[in-house]
Amino acid sequence: MTDAPVLEAVGISKSYGRVRAVVDVSFDVRPGEILGIVGDNGAGKSTLMNVVSGAIAPDSGHLRVTGRQLTPHTIGQARAAGIEMIYQDLGLSDNLSVVENVFLGREWTGGPAVLPVLRKKAMRVRTQAVLESLGIDLHDMNVLVEGLSGGQRQMVAIARALVAAHEPRVMVMDEPTAALGTSESRVVNDLIVRLRDTGYAVVVISHRIPELLELADRLLVMKGGRQVHHGPTRDLDVERCVQLIVRGAAALERSAG
Ligand SMILES: Nc1ncnc2c1ncn2[C@@H]1O[C@H](COP(=O)(O)OP(=O)(O)OP(=O)(O)O)[C@@H](O)[C@H]1O
Ligand SMILES: [Mg+2]
Repeated sequence: MTDAPVLEAVGISKSYGRVRAVVDVSFDVRPGEILGIVGDNGAGKSTLMNVVSGAIAPDSGHLRVTGRQLTPHTIGQARAAGIEMIYQDLGLSDNLSVVENVFLGREWTGGPAVLPVLRKKAMRVRTQAVLESLGIDLHDMNVLVEGLSGGQRQMVAIARALVAAHEPRVMVMDEPTAALGTSESRVVNDLIVRLRDTGYAVVVISHRIPELLELADRLLVMKGGRQVHHGPTRDLDVERCVQLIVRGAAALERSAG
């Protein structure tokens, strides 16, 4: 882990009408680090990360990527800056194969522009290579995604994000293990650690506090759109974390006083 943040969010706010979904939130994440984000339902976690991924524009605040100011207004702009997000629903197409999903919307083609030909073998080889680099063996790249387990689907979504990344720096994952059992969660969490160890800054939203405390290096706790804590996980235990989520900054004041 280096000390310079790869991503900084500075004073991000976003309202929907009278609902203040995110209020003046600032955080940073460094290469080779996992930042966990926790908070109750409606705390603003997904909204904040959708700002980071370029899916929604903030009302105020900005991002800095490797020190340069950037506030993406499209997913393409965020992607060009090295930010990829995997949404909770994964966005996979059940009736397409693993390879087709990994390259959906950005297929590799060859031949003349008027008569493009899909470079199927090259895409299959690339998919296999990405999955192998993550230590994943799916056996058959042409199998339909509908036949895969929850954990395997998560793997395909991760492979897809890795292939999409121009300059891979930040990977944001919204509830990657929410729908998974214990052993599949472990596989996905191992993969998150591997991404971190290859130099990614990984941001993980999760409701599973014990799991996240073990996984994340630092934690951002949100309540009612506001950040109530941003610091190393080693300063927190499950009890204290729950206090912060439920009571917000009041939990800090009490322990400080
Ligand atoms: N597109 C939208 N239009 C109107 N209100 C929205 C929209 N998206 C989010 N909100 C509101 O903003 C607040 C924050 O929502 P957000 O989805 O960011 O919370 P969250 O922390 O991700 O919750 P969860 O844990 O349930 O996923 C909520 O009050 C929600 O109802
Ligand atoms: Mg959410």
